[in-house]
Amino acid sequence: MKRLKVLVMRRLPEAVETRIAKLFDAALNPADSPLPQDAFAEALAEVDALVPSVANPVDAAAIAGAGPRLGLIANFGVGVDNIDLEAARARGVAVTNTPGVLTEDTADIALALMLMAARRPGPAERALRAGAWAGWGPTDQLGTSLTGKRLAIVGMGRIGQALARRARALGMHVDYHSRRRLAEAEEEALDARYRGELDAMLAEADVVSLHAPYARETHHLLDRRRLGLMRRSAFLINAARGAIVDEEALIAALEAGAIAGAGLDVYVNEPHIDPRLIALDNVVLLPHLGSATVETRTAMGMKVVENLLAFAEGRELPDRVV
Ligand code: 8YV
Repeated sequence: MKRLKVLVMRRLPEAVETRIAKLFDAALNPADSPLPQDAFAEALAEVDALVPSVANPVDAAAIAGAGPRLGLIANFGVGVDNIDLEAARARGVAVTNTPGVLTEDTADIALALMLMAARRPGPAERALRAGAWAGWGPTDQLGTSLTGKRLAIVGMGRIGQALARRARALGMHVDYHSRRRLAEAEEEALDARYRGELDAMLAEADVVSLHAPYARETHHLLDRRRLGLMRRSAFLINAARGAIVDEEALIAALEAGAIAGAGLDVYVNEPHIDPRLIALDNVVLLPHLGSATVETRTAMGMKVVENLLAFAEGRELPDRVV
């Protein structure tokens, strides 16, 4: 078998790095330090495969400047919006991702955001730590109940469905809007109602949660107009990608109290968070934690390994996107 030359851009869980080092001629990044642009271009000229992550943009210029050996970009992550897929296609470079293994953990973070936005344990805990808890009070620290409320899921793929299951366990009603309508049996199993009109669904929701991939078609899907359709009492949850929402319009809506609050795990310009978001009290801000468990990050890495191995052996790539 051909020993593949692989450039791994971030430190990965130890078990994954051990396996990659055993199987391939790998350049790992044990210090987890950012690779300067010129060193990246130099390395790309020599490798067969690249393993980037959401924090590593692989743009058209990088792909155009890659050496003739580059045949695979095996992304560590399910979202591939960090990669210029058109450029990869044009160069005949395959792209793979890591679907399936991060579904449940990412849905857990969306659920956590929903609970944190509605019940507000964050500010309450911060007050307690600051010594500002004077004792239990019948009207202190009141949040909003989720039971019996209507959740609107935008994007009913694996993660959207996993959130639907959790929401049903909370006693919420679930609506969804998606490119592809689920089969009747799937809708029944999830007790989820398909809504063909996104706008109408948004206008009736108590919580809106985004689970679509980021692409040209979903850029600013929640723009000023659509945010304006949401109820003043509603919450917006985003554990998908920042730019699915017009962040400027969201900040304006939160500042004006036009919606009740938001729970965000993703941002337009990660890791830079707009200071106006930090200043707001009605938004929960997490640092892109969706898949951040030992189990899931290891499973994601092993998926990367499977794709690299298939490529090395000339087999069909299990998670081919391009
Ligand atoms: C990952 C994610 O942590 O997989 C994704 O698309 O957003 C996250 O869960 C990240 O992408 C790793 O590259």
